[in-house]
Parts: sequence; structure tokens; C-alpha cells
Amino acid sequence: MADGTPTPPREASTFAPDPVFASNAVATRDLADRAHADRSAFWAEQADACVTWGRRPTETLDWSDPPFARWFADGTLNVAYNCLDRHVEAGHGERVALLWEGEPGDARAVTYAELTADVKRAANLLSSLGVGPGDRVVVYLPQIPEAVVAMLAVARLGAVHSVVFGGFSAESLRARIDDAEATLVITADGGWRKGSVSPLKPAVDAALALGGRSTVENVLVIRRGENAVDWVEGRDLWWHEALEGVEAEHTAEMFEAEHPLFILYTSGTTGRPKGILHTSGGYLTQVAYTHRNVFDLRPETDVYWCTADVGWITGHSYVVYGPLANGATQVLYEGTPDSPGPGRWWDLVEKYGVTILYTAPTAIRGFMKAGREIPQARDLTSLRLLGSVGEPINPEAWLWYREVIGSGTTPIVDTWWQTETGAMMISPLPGVTTTKPGAAQTPVPGIVVDVVDDQGVPVADGESGLLVVTEPWPSMLRGIWGDRDRYVETYWGRFGDRYFAGDGARRDDDGDIWLLGRVDDVMNVSGHRLSTAEIESALVSNPLVAESAVVGAADETTGQAVVAFVVLRDKKRRSVTPEEAVARLRAHVADRIGAIARPRTIVLVDELPKTRSGKIMRRLLRDVAEGREVGDTTTLADSAVMGVITAEMR
Ligand code: WTA
Repeated sequence: MADGTPTPPREASTFAPDPVFASNAVATRDLADRAHADRSAFWAEQADACVTWGRRPTETLDWSDPPFARWFADGTLNVAYNCLDRHVEAGHGERVALLWEGEPGDARAVTYAELTADVKRAANLLSSLGVGPGDRVVVYLPQIPEAVVAMLAVARLGAVHSVVFGGFSAESLRARIDDAEATLVITADGGWRKGSVSPLKPAVDAALALGGRSTVENVLVIRRGENAVDWVEGRDLWWHEALEGVEAEHTAEMFEAEHPLFILYTSGTTGRPKGILHTSGGYLTQVAYTHRNVFDLRPETDVYWCTADVGWITGHSYVVYGPLANGATQVLYEGTPDSPGPGRWWDLVEKYGVTILYTAPTAIRGFMKAGREIPQARDLTSLRLLGSVGEPINPEAWLWYREVIGSGTTPIVDTWWQTETGAMMISPLPGVTTTKPGAAQTPVPGIVVDVVDDQGVPVADGESGLLVVTEPWPSMLRGIWGDRDRYVETYWGRFGDRYFAGDGARRDDDGDIWLLGRVDDVMNVSGHRLSTAEIESALVSNPLVAESAVVGAADETTGQAVVAFVVLRDKKRRSVTPEEAVARLRAHVADRIGAIARPRTIVLVDELPKTRSGKIMRRLLRDVAEGREVGDTTTLADSAVMGVITAEMR
């Protein structure tokens, strides 16, 4: 400015909605006003707008037995029918549902009519294998159209799917199979990743061969990788062979709104993953509502692409249920972003004319590092809206995303939510909100949140606190599979009547919410949730290890990275070199949990910093791992230990 006054940073870095975009946006200011005026009526209205009910619900929320909510409880629906048949019946059978592309470049477009037919036949097959309402089916697949078919076929029968991400190890898979007592596993021979076939069926074989009888009766195997596989006669069936001659017609039965839809395991603060349970009517309502309003979806013209794997909640809600309930056309891609070259995603955007792209900050930072020339060599002008999810997006990445990927014009929606919340909870509305790089900003209409201190008292704007959700919401988890008490304790134990999310947050002077990361022992690595306790118990299960402490340390690309401090057993220490020990332990964690959990860094130490009562002070280890001055060590039993560890890090 002429008088030398610096431009206030807030104004410099906010983006008001484009007037043209705003003038015909799907979500207008009126949406929030209606939700504010009467929340219950608002959700009833959304349930009507988003779902085709068998029996229309007359009740909205039953909160008579908190924290166990029942939404639209007297309504009935079939979730798969809502994602498929109803679009065909409405005359959209020829619309493409999936624009699938395999990593090697093979491609397939699947219309709504075709997807509906595939799901009907698959439902008949599953039912002939004895799968009925309430039964659990584990899905362990690459990102292929059959993954969507399998999930919807399970849902169509009123059975419950538990999708396990293909990167999880045999042991993690078995733990999930056992916890859910699944009777069927749907897998593939293998899928394409980073230029070669990554086998899946062997992990299922290994999982089922682990100690103790499993509940699994059959394994259905989809042919994708063409890799050789072992076969257990009587148990294993090829998907394509089993489907031969199966009846094509299938009438969708209606189930109650609170009928279970899926279990999805996620990391908590203990070593044991939690089976998050979601049900049907409320879940479908909120995923469809948010998908339409937050992404400004025009199902007739948009080409939507969410890059998440179906093994994560984002894949459930914003690859399968939200987009398909809305009759959207979407890209589904099997492989990694850099195969065969670093421009693969941008080739796909150009090839399919993607208009809405939803991805994670870690991917964006990876592309920033690789250089803007790569996306800039492609035509990305079809993009009209960008979304972010999975961890806080740093303002630099946000600005790069808008400028380089979004031609400097697209709105960005930074969406905060969790496996437990089922659907988006905090996000700008693209035609309404003046966006701020780095902030998720406002609860979506119908959602009420607060930022409170340890005692549950709301904190003033500008102060950091804990994020809570103050009112029940339609897509909220209904519990932890088989563990009622853990649900009550984990999410409601702290503040009683409010849901504790496990995230820190702050409101700025405008009342906008900034997420500050997890406040518990959950890490967020490349947008994937990992538990420090789970990795620690994997490490100590190795005979080399006496003790370990794991922390999530800030990492430029992956957000956080796994750093493990390990004390080796005295006797073993002499038999291996430190390099060997580190290599073996990294491989051991990948084997026990999955490659995503493999520590970036393992530091061998003589001792861990502990309080006099024996509690490991992870806070201090995080300081070391992030190269900071070590904080207050006065409560340590042995105050010299941190000096030694710091020296060992160098
Ligand atoms: C984090 C992924 C900041 C947060 C959908 C949350 C975010 C955890 C955001 C849930 C965001 C997700 N800004 N942090 N936009 N989105 N998170 O269960 O810590 O895999 O608690 O669900 O990711 O991870 P989950």
C-alpha cells in the first residue's frame, strides 16, 4: 500500500467464492439457515431428498438412550437399490458409473445398468453360498470394479462388509476376520501396484493358516493379476466360474434404517484396532447429502474422482456410497500416482475430463516436491473443484493445489471427518464460504461442533482446545463391533454428552475452525491412521526387542512419520549388527501390520525416558525425533537418559 501499511495477511490469503460459481451453486446460504432454524426438520428433509425409502421414516432422531443414536428408525430401505436400481428406473441406465483404469493402462467403463446387473448376480451368488442378513463378509481386493460390486452385493443382502485394505498383512487380516467372525472372504489373485502384480490371495491363505480355526467357509477369488495361486479345494472358488449360470434377477429386500451396513477397522489408542460400525439410513443420507452439497455435484455433467482406496473410510463414503447414491460418474484408478511415470494422475484428469478431484494433502505435497512442470504439461482445465481430506493441509500445499492444479480459480474444500463420523463434518461450502488456506472452517449445515478445554468448557476464539461434536448426527458410528463399553468410554467417557473426536482445534476471530492434529496416541501417516501402541506391540513381539516406544514425528511429505525408539535385548544385541537389527525390525513391522506401518526411522537406544511411575514420556521422544530442543525432563526417573538419546540420534 502507498502509505507503507502492510496488507493484513487474512485478506491477502482468503478466497471469496467466484460470483458465477456462487450464483448457481448447489448449496446456498439458505441451507445453513434451514438447518439452524430446525435441525430435526432439516435432516428429515435431507433423508427425503437423498434416499428412496421402502417405508418412509416418520421419526428423525431417537436419542433416548445416549450415546446410542437411532436415526430414521421406523424407515426401511435397501442401500444397494439406492446406489443402483433407482437410477436405472429413472432412465439413467446408460450413464457411466465407473470409468475404471487399471495401472497397466487397461480400461473399462461400467454403466449404471451394467453395475446393477453385476451386483444382482453377485448377490445371488453370495446368497447361494449362504450369506444372509447380518452375516459378515471380508473384502480384501485391489481397486477394481469388482470391489464396488462386492461391497454393494453384500449390502444388497443386508449382510455386513468389512473391507480390509490390500496393504494390510496376513496377520492384520486374520485379526479382522476373527473379530468380525466372517464366513466369507472376497479377494483377488493380485492387483497392479508400482508396475508389477502385488499378490493378495497368498495373504488370505496365510491368514487362514494361522493358529486356531477360523470362521471362514469360502474364499471367492477374482482374477485380476493372473499370478499363480494356491488352491484349497472345497473352500476356494473363482469368482468368474462361480458366477456362471447364476440367476440375473434379484429383488432388493428392504431393511430397517438401523440395520448394520459395514464394519471398518481403524486404529485407536490401544494395540487392538476398533471395528467401527455403521448402519444404513442415516449413513446413506449424510454421505449423499455432503457429497452433493460440498462438491457442488451435477450428476449429469460432472466427472468426479476421489483417489482414496475402498479399504479406507473415504473410499466407502466418497467412492462407493455417496457418489453412487447421487448417480455420479466417477473415475476409479487401480494403481499408484507415479506409475508408470510421475504424471499418471494428471494424464487421467486430462483423459477423462475430471471436473472434481478429491485427494489427500500428502499426495499434494508429493506432487509439489516432484515439480509443477509435471501437471503443467497436461490440460487440467476441466477441473472446477478440488477437495482435501485426511490431515490438516498446510497453507503452502493448499495454495499450490489451487494455483497449479486448479488453474488459480477452483474452490478448494478442506473436509474434516473421521472413520467414526462416517461422512464430512466440517468443510467450506464452495459457493458460500470465503475460504482460508489451511482451515476446514465451518461445520456443514446440520452439524454442531465446539472447541473445549480439558474440563469441557468452551474456550475463547483464538485459544486451542479439543474438538467435540455436541449433537448426534445421522452418519455417526453406532458402536465398536462386539465392544459396547469401549465405544462409550473412548468417545463419550471424557465429556459425557459430547462426542470427543481426538483432535485439537482452534477457532479464529471469525469463528472459523482450524484443525491442529491428533491429541492422542494416534498418528496420521500419509493420511492413514496408525496407532503407536499397535506398532509398539508389533516391535516387542520380535525376540530382538526388549522394549520400544513409537512416536509420530512431523514429516514434510507424509505429514507424520513413524519413528521407533528400541531397546534391544542384551543377549541378542551381540548376535546382530545395529544395521541388521534395524532392517529386520522394519521388515517385522511390515509383516505384522502392513507396509504402511513400517517405521521410517528406528533408533536403537539403551534406555527409554520414563517417569518415576514407569510411564514412557513420548513427548520427549517426539522432541528428539523432530530435532527440537528437548522439553521439561524434571519428571524423569533418570534425567540423564535424554542426553544420551539425543546424542544417539546424531
Ligand atoms: C484427520 C479420514 C485436519 C483427523 C476421513 C481425524 C483431518 C483423522 C482432516 C481421521 C482435515 C481428517 N483436516 N485433519 N481436513 N481430515 N483429518 O479415520 O486427525 O482415517 O481425526 O478418516 O484424520 O482419520 P480417518
